[in-house]
Amino acid sequence: MTASSPSPHTGLTAEPSRALGGTIRVPGDKSISHRALIFGALAVGETRITGLLEGEDVLATAETMRRLGAQVRRHADGTWSVFGVGIGGLCEPAEPLDFGNSGTGARLVMGLVAGHPITATFIGDASLSRRPMGRVITPLSEMGAHFHAREGGRMPLTLTGARRTLPITYRSPVASAQVKSAILLAGLNAPGVTTVIEPVPTRDHTERMLRAFGAHIETRQGKDGLEISLTGEPELTPCPIAVPGDPSSAAFPVVAALLVPGSEIVVQGITLNPHRAGLYTTLKEMGGDIEVMNQREEGGEPVADLRVRHSRLTGIDVPPERAASMIDEYPVLAVAAAFAEGETRMMGIHELRVKESDRIAATASGLRANGIKVHESDDGMVVEGRSGMVDGGGHVVTHMDHRIAMSFLVMGLAAQKPVTVDDALMIATSFPGFTTLMRGLGASFAGQAQ
Ligand code: S3P
Repeated sequence: MTASSPSPHTGLTAEPSRALGGTIRVPGDKSISHRALIFGALAVGETRITGLLEGEDVLATAETMRRLGAQVRRHADGTWSVFGVGIGGLCEPAEPLDFGNSGTGARLVMGLVAGHPITATFIGDASLSRRPMGRVITPLSEMGAHFHAREGGRMPLTLTGARRTLPITYRSPVASAQVKSAILLAGLNAPGVTTVIEPVPTRDHTERMLRAFGAHIETRQGKDGLEISLTGEPELTPCPIAVPGDPSSAAFPVVAALLVPGSEIVVQGITLNPHRAGLYTTLKEMGGDIEVMNQREEGGEPVADLRVRHSRLTGIDVPPERAASMIDEYPVLAVAAAFAEGETRMMGIHELRVKESDRIAATASGLRANGIKVHESDDGMVVEGRSGMVDGGGHVVTHMDHRIAMSFLVMGLAAQKPVTVDDALMIATSFPGFTTLMRGLGASFAGQAQ
């Protein structure tokens, strides 16, 4: 078997589909789900969560919270309860903490453990073990934690939290909500004010949820960027959390409906938090017929329904300053760009090189395998659109990356020939039930990993 052959056990093929139609809900937001479990573990008493994403990444965080001493229960009706231990109350885990594929889980929990005088070993799969942890090791070490990591700051690593956590002011060199959140989590157990300065604002679910749990947190524009300041040692009070649908998951059916002729779908209840909605702004600028309906606020997050109809798209220059608000959506945007008329330029996206895979390289080679011209640079790519006529017929190597898999399955629904991905099992990390939900809209898939 060559490197590009799909495995008979894990591969999946998407076939040119009839018009997609129907009304769906996508699973709960991954970022909010991780945070609900983690903050629940730090609050004293019961945090009740509805709509939690039951994907592998989040389930790994749930198991980790148990190992650190919280009680985490799933009820028969699909709601979850976390009985927290209070800030400073976590206990040392007897076994290594296994985060599977999840960078968010690993980095956030490093912040959590860094603020407790306990030792824990962090392990994960091959993809996670390649990802850089130096970005959290540096600030958390300044706060008093000690790390013993593999060369290059990689996992597996062992972390001993601070005896007395130091509040710091940290200017993050990367635009990363994970880094910001890890520092704030450690800062919860530090006396005084911990401040993170972000060069570019990133998703603010941590700040919203901390406020909802009663912490004092302030944001203001400083000369070097957005300053987020948390007053340490608060008493976190549980509050019920309703997790909205994940806009990063909704991206796949939305782009599929834009690309497959005749389609019209409605996606209900996704968060359109401004720090997460960049893809939708971009698709509308490309000519996508996306109607935002029933805008409301749920659980402290802006939520809406989207009606999406098949559209003829035109390539655009995606503003680099929008990158943080759509950082996980570039692979599926690149697929949309392949069907657009003209070029789509995506710049300022170097961070994509250190996601679950090198997403610039994986996306570019997937596009080429399906007859699309793409120019790749260190921090961007330019896709030459084919005005609705994409060859398809390619075999795509996903490198254990769920979003690469789903993006190219979307391509296969609208291309001239089927598109095969080598591994669809990783989709369960973020979007359990993806193929079932897409089939319900009329999508056609063949293969064993369903
Ligand atoms: C996330 C932040 C982003 C994103 C990831 C989820 C979070 O990562 O890519 O899927 O929940 O904080 P970075 O912080 O590395 O940009």
